[in-house]
Amino acid sequence: MSEQLHLAPPPIWQSLEAVESSARACRDCQLCQSRTNVVFSAGNAKAKLMIIAEAPGRNEDEAGVPFVGRAGKLFDKILEAGRIDREKEIYLCNVVKCRPPNNRPPAKAEIQACRKYLEAQLELVRPALILVAGATAVEAILDVKDPISRIRGTWFDCQFGAKVMPVFHPTYLLRNDSKEIGSPKWLMWQDIQEVRKQLDLLN
Ligand code: URA
Repeated sequence: MSEQLHLAPPPIWQSLEAVESSARACRDCQLCQSRTNVVFSAGNAKAKLMIIAEAPGRNEDEAGVPFVGRAGKLFDKILEAGRIDREKEIYLCNVVKCRPPNNRPPAKAEIQACRKYLEAQLELVRPALILVAGATAVEAILDVKDPISRIRGTWFDCQFGAKVMPVFHPTYLLRNDSKEIGSPKWLMWQDIQEVRKQLDLLN
């Protein structure tokens, strides 16, 4: 399992359950050797809003569920501030489904190996809105490398037919705790209100 992967074309999955079961058995990159659980998704597959973050951390790897650790608790508060129901109104997943050791950023080859699962999730959930949290998710979906501080809060079109908004990753917000006007946390609180507004327009 070198950095140079030669992957077979992805199968055409008919359901998210089929995608998940392939992901659970996946050995297409080295992350399979150190994972406890494959962290596939949480929330509602019929939701209009999909949230895509980077990769599971230690708590998520142990639980098999995205965003259950410290960043997850903050994430829950952000959703609460937007009156967004985590179980009903969002489908939540990561670019990479297995934990990178020591929470390092996923390598290019790992992102590439996992991309078939993310694309299948996008295809089968067909969200109207997507939030991409952090640089890895922004690059995976929008193929841009601009700093999040410059592009957050703006809606972009993407190849998957949804409106996409980059937002700060909750782990970044944990390191930047100020809630002063103009701070990353304050901006995140504004962004989630905009997301609520767009969700209401869709309903
Ligand atoms: N960070 C992420 O990017 N995803 C998780 O699921 C947890 C922490």
